[in-house]
Amino acid sequence: MGEARSYVNMDKVVIVMPAYNEAENMGPMITELFEEVFPKITGVEMNLLIVDDFSPDKTGDIVKKYQGKYSNLYLLQKEREGLGWAYVKGFRYAVEKLHADAVMEMDADFQHPPKFVIPMVEAYLNGADYVIGSRYIKGGSVPKNWETFRKLVSYFGNLFIRIVLVKPKLHDLTTGFRLTKVKGVLDQIDLEHLMELGRFSHKVDLFYQSIKHAKKVVEIPLAFASRTKEKSKFNTKETISTFRVAIILGIKDKVRFIKFGIVGFTGFLVNYLGLEVLKRFGLSTYFSTLLATEAAIISNFIFNNVWTFKDKTITKVGDIIPQFLKFNLSSLFAVVVQPLIVTGAARIFSDSPVVRLFALVFALIVVVIPYNYVVYNLFIWKTWKLPWKKK
Ligand code: GDD
Ligand code: MN
Repeated sequence: MGEARSYVNMDKVVIVMPAYNEAENMGPMITELFEEVFPKITGVEMNLLIVDDFSPDKTGDIVKKYQGKYSNLYLLQKEREGLGWAYVKGFRYAVEKLHADAVMEMDADFQHPPKFVIPMVEAYLNGADYVIGSRYIKGGSVPKNWETFRKLVSYFGNLFIRIVLVKPKLHDLTTGFRLTKVKGVLDQIDLEHLMELGRFSHKVDLFYQSIKHAKKVVEIPLAFASRTKEKSKFNTKETISTFRVAIILGIKDKVRFIKFGIVGFTGFLVNYLGLEVLKRFGLSTYFSTLLATEAAIISNFIFNNVWTFKDKTITKVGDIIPQFLKFNLSSLFAVVVQPLIVTGAARIFSDSPVVRLFALVFALIVVVIPYNYVVYNLFIWKTWKLPWKKK
């Protein structure tokens, strides 16, 4: 075992463990990790960083005592600013001073039984860049002695956040036991600007930003134990804040699609009114739809450029022309499909304003809008990346 630790290029995993008034837990926790858990992990170098906010019960002094015994044990002491800051500063220390390849979030109070570090690090060694200790998958659990109400709040709270953030495939979004690869995930996140760094709820934002960058996410069952000593610092305020963060993140993400829908609707008005006006000028149904569709494409390009994708507005004249042509090219689909559907419906039913209206709405909702949203995000304003192009 010992010799495996001497490889020069071994990855370094740093467990960042915030601790506030955990004097009773500190010694047993350090001992169990260094004596029982770390020796069972080969292929990476395990480190433990305790982040103590100068706990009045002298948690820090206990850590210092053990530092003589274990060289991979580190202590960061700072003023009390809330759990999120303990993690942010701990991560910074782990990355900049200890050159961590992966960091872990873990509690000091044995609610995260230390043995679960092993499967989580194994998942990392098997290629995961984000590992979640999950209470809500098969094999995971919450403490048996929790009252029913607490279990319900925890489960439905999580379910609510999964729905708001549209993450049905992941089951535990508020867990405090996770592993994050530094390169490509943690180093892509603006840690100091996460929401609610003074609270536990920063975890939801941290989770959300990590998921955006992680390519391989793995959930490991976690049997969340009950607290034996002291009492939890989690409370109603924290719960409300957690929902608030989830809702804000959920909406932020959908604002673009809502704007896109509104622009699409104005485009539809241009499209339909244009079609009816041109019909009255005596043009055929086909050519009226064709010209009106192009008018809608032009107005959509302008509004999407200055509003929906305002963070990516194309301003350089030299870029506008090619991007507009590209936009047109991708909208060509609509130009082809819409007149065909409208003409087809007019033939099958009757060539009346009502039939033309319904046919146009049908074409837009079923085919054109979903197609356009994907194409614009991928190729015009480039807010999405193809999965295989992720760096
Ligand atoms: N340095 C520092 N500063 N550590 C803190 C602070 C702080 O202000 N507040 C809490 N901690 C430490 C505790 O000492 C413990 O090691 C860990 O953070 C978790 O705190 P608990 O008070 O035990 O929280 P909990 O058990 O109620 O909350 C658990 O569940 C939440 C919801 O699922 C944790 O796992 C949370 O991370 C999780 O979000
Ligand atoms: Mn706890």
